[in-house]
Amino acid sequence: MSREIIKIKVGVGRVDAVAGAAEVTVVGVFSDGKGGAVFRKLDKALNGGLSQVLGLGDFKGEANTTAVVYGNKAIGARRVVMVGLGDRAKLTVDAVRQAAGRAASMAVDLKAKKAIFALHGDLPKKLRPEALGQAIAEGVHFGAYRWDEFLGKGNDKDGRPAAIGVVIAETDAAVAKALGEGVKVGNIMGEAQNFARTIMNRPANVVNPPSLAAEAKRLAARTPGLTCSVMEEKQIRAKGMGGLMAVGQGSATQPRLIVLKYSPARARGRTIGLVGKAITFDSGGISIKPSEGMQEMKFDKSGGVAVLGAMKAIAALKPPVQVYGIIPSAENMPGGMSYRPGDIVTTYSGKTVEIQNTDAEGRMILCDAIHHAVMLKCDVVVDVATLTGASVVALGEWRAALMSHSDRLIERIKAASEACGENVWHMPCGEEYLELMKSKIADLKNIGGKWGGACTAAAFLGEFARDVEWAHLDIAGVGMVDGSKKFGSPGSIGYGVRLLTTFVRNEAE
Ligand code: BES
Ligand code: MN
Ligand code: ZN
Repeated sequence: MSREIIKIKVGVGRVDAVAGAAEVTVVGVFSDGKGGAVFRKLDKALNGGLSQVLGLGDFKGEANTTAVVYGNKAIGARRVVMVGLGDRAKLTVDAVRQAAGRAASMAVDLKAKKAIFALHGDLPKKLRPEALGQAIAEGVHFGAYRWDEFLGKGNDKDGRPAAIGVVIAETDAAVAKALGEGVKVGNIMGEAQNFARTIMNRPANVVNPPSLAAEAKRLAARTPGLTCSVMEEKQIRAKGMGGLMAVGQGSATQPRLIVLKYSPARARGRTIGLVGKAITFDSGGISIKPSEGMQEMKFDKSGGVAVLGAMKAIAALKPPVQVYGIIPSAENMPGGMSYRPGDIVTTYSGKTVEIQNTDAEGRMILCDAIHHAVMLKCDVVVDVATLTGASVVALGEWRAALMSHSDRLIERIKAASEACGENVWHMPCGEEYLELMKSKIADLKNIGGKWGGACTAAAFLGEFARDVEWAHLDIAGVGMVDGSKKFGSPGSIGYGVRLLTTFVRNEAE
């Protein structure tokens, strides 16, 4: 890797957004063409330079749009970036997060090392400053991120800044304090999410089960409150984790079971297990995938890496609840050692599974990891996985599928989803789907019928979580989405880090 990922930091400053010196100053504009007090002051100092752009219709304040106006001596900024906030009446915290992301992405494209954000000042009062501070910080981290660590020096002609510092301008002490509380959380969330994005984006010749385990160990070593133990191939076999062994046995890199543990000083309530699928490359194995698009399957570790990122954020935010992060990792490859269609695998739980398709490998590693969570006495288990193409067919790239036998958990995860802006949609996984996963020669088989593949996969997993409160997130669509469609950087959007972290924080309350 030839260059370091851009460093991003957000703070709150008691600066005047008009006089404050910056390479970029950001203001929001609604789709009615109006901004707030800072907008009006800047516009006046620029002799109507902002309203002129709106007057021409080049920029209308629509969501996900921006415009740049260059400064003069009367203002501190060299450039003003106007970012669209969309419909004033429909404004949500998530819309502010996205606008901040757009603006931060623009600031990086403009090579800014310092930007002043004056987005929050004139927003509807129902949006609390803590929530706004957090959302703006998260948005900045999201939008300013670039995955360019493999671009060589000769590719450096764009000269993107090594670091960007964003100051949210607020002169009122009480408001600045409240914003600052949120910014603290937002910096932690944003850093953890970008940490996850980087690992998700790295290709399979760099990230394999042993190197992912080493990454988890490094994270734990530098994070107070977090420990990491890794089971290697020998222990995995000795424990009887036949599913994880079967999937991993075809690869030159051996499988690992990564177990992170967050223990707060005073834990209360129920222990939570976060389980994430980390297939570092999914070729399909003997049931090999078509070559077109196969490169996308480096993202098949996204669930596991989302858990890694969430554990990083959780350890920094310190909720009073014990959390395990359990990451089964393997590479699904074809070869002389691979598991085969027709094999019957005995899983860690003792249940046997008839393999009908080696490409349905995610459930085979997750069933052992979920059982491990049960053995660790987790009360609540949430698994996250890029599990099925069927979930992408059903929901596209903007929502993860959420399945559970627990109505309470469905509601809790939906609430976390709404709070953090990572979207989910509730789908079924009941008896009728489980029926399709029953085998005549083993307890279960690893594929269902032609239809409802996301639901049958979830029903399969649910069989290993009978003794706990369990939910499943199929992130195949959102986990692998090309982020450039939404914000600046190609590759992973790091889905799941904010959702899992928010869920855990809410459970701890
Ligand atoms: N990792 C894939 C799921 C996937 C597909 C993620 C497309 C993202 C985009 C998973 O391991 C898989 O191959 N699932 C199969 C299951 C089938 C064989 C029952 C699928 O969805 O086709
Ligand atoms: Mn597969
Ligand atoms: Zn897979």
